[in-house]
Amino acid sequence: MTKLILILAAQILLLAALASAGDDGDFARTINQKHLGLHKEEKLTHFRVYWHNSVKGRNPSAVMIQQPVSNSSLFGSITMMDDPLTTDVPRNSTVVGQAQGFYAGAVQGEIGFLMAMNFVFKTGKYNGSTIAILGRNTIYSKVREMPVVGGSGIFRFARGYVEARTKFFDFKSGVAIVEYNCYVLHY
Ligand SMILES: *[C@@H]1O[C@H](CO)[C@@H](O)[C@H](O)[C@H]1NC(C)=O
Ligand SMILES: *[C@@H]1O[C@H](CO)[C@@H](O)[C@H](O)[C@H]1NC(C)=O
Ligand SMILES: *[C@@H]1O[C@H](CO)[C@@H](O)[C@H](O)[C@H]1NC(C)=O
Repeated sequence: MTKLILILAAQILLLAALASAGDDGDFARTINQKHLGLHKEEKLTHFRVYWHNSVKGRNPSAVMIQQPVSNSSLFGSITMMDDPLTTDVPRNSTVVGQAQGFYAGAVQGEIGFLMAMNFVFKTGKYNGSTIAILGRNTIYSKVREMPVVGGSGIFRFARGYVEARTKFFDFKSGVAIVEYNCYVLHY
Protein backbone atom coordinates (compact mmCIF):
# COMPACT_ATOMS: atom_id res chain seq x y z
CA MET A 1 0.00 0.00 0.00
CA THR A 2 2.78 2.45 0.98
CA LYS A 3 4.65 1.38 -2.16
CA LEU A 4 1.61 2.14 -4.32
CA ILE A 5 1.24 5.60 -2.73
CA LEU A 6 4.91 6.30 -3.39
CA ILE A 7 4.58 5.30 -7.06
CA LEU A 8 1.48 7.50 -7.45
CA ALA A 9 3.25 10.42 -5.77
CA ALA A 10 6.26 9.98 -8.06
CA GLN A 11 3.97 9.95 -11.10
CA ILE A 12 2.19 13.12 -9.96
CA LEU A 13 5.55 14.85 -9.47
CA LEU A 14 6.66 13.74 -12.95
CA LEU A 15 3.44 15.04 -14.54
CA ALA A 16 3.80 18.33 -12.67
CA ALA A 17 7.39 18.64 -13.93
CA LEU A 18 6.29 17.96 -17.51
CA ALA A 19 3.43 20.45 -17.24
CA SER A 20 5.68 23.21 -15.92
CA ALA A 21 8.23 22.49 -18.68
CA GLY A 22 5.37 23.00 -21.13
CA ASP A 23 4.47 26.34 -19.55
CA ASP A 24 7.75 28.13 -20.09
CA GLY A 25 9.46 26.25 -22.89
CA ASP A 26 6.78 25.77 -25.54
CA PHE A 27 7.34 28.70 -27.91
CA ALA A 28 9.15 26.77 -30.64
CA ARG A 29 8.72 23.38 -32.17
CA THR A 30 9.53 21.47 -35.31
CA ILE A 31 6.53 21.03 -37.58
CA ASN A 32 5.93 19.09 -40.75
CA GLN A 33 6.80 21.06 -43.90
CA LYS A 34 3.52 19.84 -45.41
CA HIS A 35 1.67 22.27 -43.13
CA LEU A 36 2.98 25.11 -45.31
CA GLY A 37 2.86 23.34 -48.65
CA LEU A 38 6.64 22.99 -48.77
CA HIS A 39 6.51 19.37 -49.93
CA LYS A 40 5.53 20.60 -53.40
CA GLU A 41 8.15 21.20 -56.05
CA GLU A 42 9.46 24.74 -56.26
CA LYS A 43 8.32 26.85 -59.20
CA LEU A 44 10.48 29.27 -61.13
CA THR A 45 8.62 32.44 -62.09
CA HIS A 46 10.07 34.99 -64.47
CA PHE A 47 8.60 38.43 -64.78
CA ARG A 48 9.69 41.57 -66.51
CA VAL A 49 8.67 44.95 -65.16
CA TYR A 50 9.73 48.52 -65.79
CA TRP A 51 10.71 50.63 -62.81
CA HIS A 52 9.91 54.34 -63.13
CA ASN A 53 11.86 56.63 -60.84
CA SER A 54 11.46 60.41 -60.85
CA VAL A 55 13.26 62.62 -58.36
CA LYS A 56 12.15 66.02 -59.66
CA GLY A 57 8.98 67.77 -60.78
CA ARG A 58 5.61 68.12 -59.17
CA ASN A 59 5.00 64.54 -58.17
CA PRO A 60 8.34 62.87 -57.64
CA SER A 61 8.14 59.13 -56.92
CA ALA A 62 11.39 59.32 -54.96
CA VAL A 63 12.79 61.81 -52.49
CA MET A 64 16.33 62.21 -51.20
CA ILE A 65 16.13 62.18 -47.41
CA GLN A 66 19.86 62.28 -46.75
CA GLN A 67 22.21 64.47 -48.79
CA PRO A 68 25.42 62.90 -50.14
CA VAL A 69 28.91 63.75 -48.95
CA SER A 70 30.00 63.71 -52.62
CA ASN A 71 27.83 65.07 -55.40
CA SER A 72 29.66 63.06 -58.05
CA SER A 73 29.31 59.59 -56.50
CA LEU A 74 26.24 60.36 -54.37
CA PHE A 75 28.04 58.48 -51.61
CA GLY A 76 26.22 58.83 -48.32
CA SER A 77 22.85 59.78 -49.84
CA ILE A 78 19.61 58.00 -49.07
CA THR A 79 16.57 58.22 -51.32
CA MET A 80 13.17 56.79 -50.43
CA MET A 81 11.05 55.59 -53.34
CA ASP A 82 7.56 54.45 -54.10
CA ASP A 83 8.00 53.84 -57.81
CA PRO A 84 5.44 52.42 -60.22
CA LEU A 85 6.25 49.11 -61.92
CA THR A 86 4.72 48.79 -65.38
CA THR A 87 4.48 46.13 -68.08
CA ASP A 88 6.30 48.20 -70.68
CA VAL A 89 8.72 51.12 -71.07
CA PRO A 90 6.15 53.95 -71.48
CA ARG A 91 5.04 55.43 -68.20
CA ASN A 92 1.42 55.10 -69.26
CA SER A 93 1.66 51.31 -69.78
CA THR A 94 -0.18 49.08 -67.30
CA VAL A 95 0.92 49.45 -63.67
CA VAL A 96 1.29 46.02 -62.02
CA GLY A 97 2.85 47.08 -58.74
CA GLN A 98 5.12 49.41 -56.85
CA ALA A 99 8.78 49.34 -55.86
CA GLN A 100 8.89 50.59 -52.28
CA GLY A 101 12.05 51.11 -50.29
CA PHE A 102 15.25 53.07 -50.53
CA TYR A 103 18.52 53.29 -52.38
CA ALA A 104 21.62 54.55 -50.67
CA GLY A 105 24.95 55.73 -52.08
CA ALA A 106 27.32 53.02 -50.89
CA VAL A 107 30.23 53.28 -53.33
CA GLN A 108 32.98 55.92 -53.43
CA GLY A 109 34.39 56.95 -56.79
CA GLU A 110 31.38 55.93 -58.90
CA ILE A 111 27.62 55.88 -58.49
CA GLY A 112 26.69 52.63 -56.79
CA PHE A 113 23.65 52.11 -54.65
CA LEU A 114 22.65 49.67 -52.00
CA MET A 115 19.08 48.86 -53.10
CA ALA A 116 16.64 47.74 -50.42
CA MET A 117 13.15 47.48 -51.85
CA ASN A 118 9.99 45.44 -51.97
CA PHE A 119 8.21 44.85 -55.24
CA VAL A 120 4.55 44.93 -54.22
CA PHE A 121 2.32 43.38 -56.84
CA LYS A 122 -1.22 44.57 -57.42
CA THR A 123 -2.68 42.40 -60.12
CA GLY A 124 -4.48 39.07 -60.37
CA LYS A 125 -3.16 36.20 -58.30
CA TYR A 126 -0.07 38.25 -57.41
CA ASN A 127 -2.13 41.00 -55.78
CA GLY A 128 -0.71 41.75 -52.33
CA SER A 129 2.32 39.48 -52.73
CA THR A 130 5.81 40.92 -52.46
CA ILE A 131 9.41 40.07 -53.21
CA ALA A 132 12.29 41.65 -51.30
CA ILE A 133 15.34 42.77 -53.26
CA LEU A 134 18.60 43.64 -51.56
CA GLY A 135 21.64 44.26 -53.70
CA ARG A 136 24.33 46.38 -55.28
CA ASN A 137 23.40 48.66 -58.15
CA THR A 138 26.20 50.41 -60.03
CA ILE A 139 23.87 52.36 -62.27
CA TYR A 140 26.27 52.88 -65.20
CA SER A 141 26.87 49.13 -65.60
CA LYS A 142 24.90 47.61 -68.48
CA VAL A 143 23.45 44.80 -66.35
CA ARG A 144 23.20 44.82 -62.57
CA GLU A 145 22.37 41.61 -60.79
CA MET A 146 20.77 41.76 -57.38
CA PRO A 147 19.50 39.01 -55.08
CA VAL A 148 15.87 38.35 -54.26
CA VAL A 149 16.19 37.56 -50.58
CA GLY A 150 12.63 36.62 -49.74
CA GLY A 151 8.97 37.28 -50.31
CA SER A 152 5.45 37.16 -48.98
CA GLY A 153 2.08 35.84 -50.12
CA ILE A 154 2.59 33.54 -53.07
CA PHE A 155 6.29 34.38 -52.86
CA ARG A 156 6.78 33.00 -49.33
CA PHE A 157 10.21 31.37 -49.02
CA ALA A 158 11.22 33.05 -52.29
CA ARG A 159 14.79 33.27 -53.45
CA GLY A 160 16.26 34.32 -56.76
CA TYR A 161 17.77 37.26 -58.52
CA VAL A 162 16.93 40.20 -60.73
CA GLU A 163 18.76 41.75 -63.66
CA ALA A 164 18.40 45.50 -64.04
CA ARG A 165 19.01 47.31 -67.33
CA THR A 166 18.55 51.05 -67.74
CA LYS A 167 16.22 51.88 -70.64
CA PHE A 168 16.04 55.62 -70.19
CA PHE A 169 17.87 58.10 -68.03
CA ASP A 170 17.63 61.88 -68.10
CA PHE A 171 19.62 63.69 -65.47
CA LYS A 172 17.90 67.04 -66.13
CA SER A 173 14.34 65.85 -65.63
CA GLY A 174 15.44 63.34 -62.97
CA VAL A 175 13.66 60.47 -64.71
CA ALA A 176 15.01 56.92 -64.95
CA ILE A 177 13.30 53.88 -66.44
CA VAL A 178 14.89 50.54 -65.63
CA GLU A 179 13.92 47.10 -66.91
CA TYR A 180 13.88 44.45 -64.20
CA ASN A 181 13.97 40.82 -65.24
CA CYS A 182 13.16 38.81 -62.13
CA TYR A 183 13.78 35.09 -61.65
CA VAL A 184 12.09 33.83 -58.50
CA LEU A 185 11.95 30.34 -57.02
CA HIS A 186 8.96 29.82 -54.76
CA TYR A 187 6.40 27.15 -53.83
C1 LIG B 1 26.01 69.19 -53.61
O1 LIG B 1 25.23 70.06 -54.43
C2 LIG B 1 24.29 70.82 -53.67
C3 LIG B 1 23.41 71.59 -54.65
O2 LIG B 1 24.15 72.15 -55.69
C4 LIG B 1 25.02 71.73 -52.71
O3 LIG B 1 24.09 72.46 -51.95
C5 LIG B 1 25.86 70.85 -51.78
O4 LIG B 1 26.63 71.68 -50.91
C6 LIG B 1 26.78 69.95 -52.57
N1 LIG B 1 27.41 69.00 -51.66
C7 LIG B 1 28.72 68.75 -51.64
C8 LIG B 1 29.19 67.76 -50.63
O5 LIG B 1 29.51 69.29 -52.39
C1 LIG C 1 0.93 56.80 -73.90
O1 LIG C 1 1.62 58.00 -74.14
C2 LIG C 1 2.00 58.18 -75.50
C3 LIG C 1 2.77 59.49 -75.60
O2 LIG C 1 3.61 59.69 -74.51
C4 LIG C 1 0.78 58.21 -76.40
O3 LIG C 1 1.19 58.31 -77.74
C5 LIG C 1 -0.03 56.94 -76.20
O4 LIG C 1 -1.22 57.02 -76.92
C6 LIG C 1 -0.33 56.73 -74.73
N1 LIG C 1 -0.98 55.41 -74.56
C7 LIG C 1 -2.02 55.23 -73.78
C8 LIG C 1 -2.52 53.83 -73.69
O5 LIG C 1 -2.53 56.15 -73.15
C1 LIG D 1 -6.03 43.80 -54.72
O1 LIG D 1 -6.30 43.64 -53.35
C2 LIG D 1 -6.85 44.79 -52.75
C3 LIG D 1 -6.91 44.55 -51.25
O2 LIG D 1 -7.40 43.28 -50.96
C4 LIG D 1 -8.19 45.12 -53.37
O3 LIG D 1 -8.75 46.27 -52.80
C5 LIG D 1 -7.98 45.34 -54.87
O4 LIG D 1 -9.22 45.54 -55.52
C6 LIG D 1 -7.27 44.14 -55.49
N1 LIG D 1 -6.94 44.47 -56.87
C7 LIG D 1 -7.08 43.61 -57.88
C8 LIG D 1 -6.69 44.11 -59.21
O5 LIG D 1 -7.49 42.47 -57.72
